[in-house]
This record gives sequence, C-alpha cells and structure tokens, in this order.
Amino acid sequence: MTDRKGVFITLEGGEGTGKSTQLKLLSQTLTEAGIANITTKEPGGTEIGQELRRILVTGDKDKCDAVAEALLYYADRRIHLTTKIWPALEKGCWVLSDRFADSTVAYQYYGYNKRISQEMLDDLYRMSVGKFKPDMTILLDIDPRIGLERSLKKAQGMSVKETRHESRGIEFHNNLRAGYLEMAAREPERFVVLNADKSIEDLHKDIVKNVSERFGLSLCRK
Ligand SMILES: Nc1ncnc2c1ncn2[C@@H]1O[C@H](COP(=O)(O)OP(=O)(O)O)[C@@H](O)[C@H]1O
Ligand SMILES: [Mg+2]
Repeated sequence: MTDRKGVFITLEGGEGTGKSTQLKLLSQTLTEAGIANITTKEPGGTEIGQELRRILVTGDKDKCDAVAEALLYYADRRIHLTTKIWPALEKGCWVLSDRFADSTVAYQYYGYNKRISQEMLDDLYRMSVGKFKPDMTILLDIDPRIGLERSLKKAQGMSVKETRHESRGIEFHNNLRAGYLEMAAREPERFVVLNADKSIEDLHKDIVKNVSERFGLSLCRK
C-alpha cells in the first residue's frame, strides 16, 4: 500500500460495545455528507474471510490456542487488506472497519493474559500489514458485564451462534478491556476512547463529533 487517498477508520472494543451498530450509523452520516465509504469487518470482510470467521467465532473456546488464533486472524487480515481495504483506499473511498489489528493484540495477547508474546504479534503485523495503520481508531469502552449481556441477548435471535469469545470467563473480558485502554494510552494520536454506556444516538453524536474534529469536516447530525 503506497498511495492512500481515502481514510481508514477502525472501531474497536469488547463484545456488545456497539461497534456494528455505530459503524452503520457513521457510514450513513458520511454518505449523507457526500463522502464515499464502505463498511467492513474482521474477521470475515471477504469471501474467504467468512470461512475463517466461522472457525474463529463459533464453537468451543478451547478448540485452538492463542497462537493458532493469531495466525488465522492474520490470514483473514491479509486477504482483507489486499482485496478490499487497500483497493478502496486507493480509489479515495473511506473504509470503516468493525475491528482490525488492535483486536488481535487485545484478545490474543491481553485477553489470554499475555500467554503469547507481543513480539510475535508485532512480527505478524510487519509481515502482513507493513507500516500501514488506521488513520483513526475509535475504542468503545464499557463494563464487560453490560457488553456481554447485550451480545448474548443479540445472539439468542441468531441461527449461527457467534459466541465463542463471549463464552470465555469474565476475567478474559476484564483483561481485554484493560488491554485496550493501555493500547489507547500508548497511541493517543490514533485512538479516541469513548464511553459506550449511553444511548445509541448519544454515542453516535460523540463519534461524529470526534470524526469531524479529526478530519476537519462539518458533518451534520440529525
Ligand atoms: N448504546 C446501546 N445501548 C443499548 N443497546 C445497544 C447499544 N448499542 C448497541 N446495542 C445493542 O447491543 C447489541 C450488540 O450491539 P453490536 O453493535 O452488535 O455490538 P458489537 O458489534 O460491539 O458486538 C445489539 O443487539 C444492539 O442493538
Ligand atoms: Mg459486532
């Protein structure tokens, strides 16, 4: 990726923080402002990625370890970048992604209480992503008990239960949240941390305000 004309924004956070909901709303607001954008997600932003997603987010939580998970997530990410994210950015389209590489550090490193090395994850990043980074990462932060409740309620209505990560204990999710906050504190120029314990509409307003400020836009809010 050499010539990036679009803007790459990622949404991060634990289960049920509102990433998918807010991504859609942000996309609509950008579209209304005349900014061409696509929404996508990890894992599963591509056709092959959908197959990897099924492996990664359904079934028994212990079916593979953190290293295997990290490798699978990076396979998904590499395909996602080369076939979808980079081509869109090169065309000048904004790309909004529900999760990206920070999720791998949060889940496979912090969530598992540092059972794998950060060095290994850094190496995988360099190999698969290079120097490319999101222009802005919005971290939605909430008490994991609230997020998990939302997420499990949502899964009740779905035929395929994407609850492999939800089925991990609360300790995993507390580690994950603390890890995300640590990562955000290390890169304040890229991250914005928002309290996700508020209404969908209020959180959307916070996101729009931050995106407007970051990119010098005046996005109208309904
Ligand atoms: N601010 C909010 N307050 C209450 N419920 C919410 C809020 N945001 C999202 N939800 C609901 O919580 C569930 C999980 O939201 P979702 O956007 O899928 O989260 P994520 O993608 O972060 O897992 C959905 O059923 C959604 O409608
Ligand atoms: Mg989601």
